[in-house]
Amino acid sequence: MDREQAVELVREKTEKETTVRHLVSVEGVMRALARRFGEDEGVWGLVGLFHDLDQDQTHDDLERHAYQAAEWLREAGVEERIVTGVLAHAHEEHRTDRMTRAIVHADALAGLLVASALVRPQKAEGMKVSSVKKKLKERAFAPGVNREEVTSVEEGIGLPLDEFIAVGIEGLQEVAGEIELSG
Ligand SMILES: [Fe+2]
Repeated sequence: MDREQAVELVREKTEKETTVRHLVSVEGVMRALARRFGEDEGVWGLVGLFHDLDQDQTHDDLERHAYQAAEWLREAGVEERIVTGVLAHAHEEHRTDRMTRAIVHADALAGLLVASALVRPQKAEGMKVSSVKKKLKERAFAPGVNREEVTSVEEGIGLPLDEFIAVGIEGLQEVAGEIELSG
């Protein structure tokens, strides 16, 4: 499945623009992480783009969340390692390698980065690691972001926190134009 078809599927299954923005932002972060590790950007990117595909239908129903998405993806012929990555973001038993652990960290970081970009006049442009770290410590800021999933990144995928944030910012900037976050 190429990216154009993938975005079409996202458009078909999602109901809210905020969901699309979240999916595209996690895609950007996952692509940048794949590049950092010399992994397959296309595969990592699609895991990011699809991870919350069923968000608007399942909400926080963990019994169905990600499983519904996996069903749609299999129907669409998406390869199984991408489906596994999607399942992994919500269900621990699928986290078996770097990509399936990376999606958890990327999901949380992208949430923090988008929230940070939204309160800056220049949006994602010129965003700094230090200011993102400040937001990370401000518990009242973007309270829905799981801080632990950001700060445990070195343990999870062997990338120091500062580098992870820098790579994440780069990834977000690459997709910023698509989600109205370019300055
Ligand atoms: Fe997510």
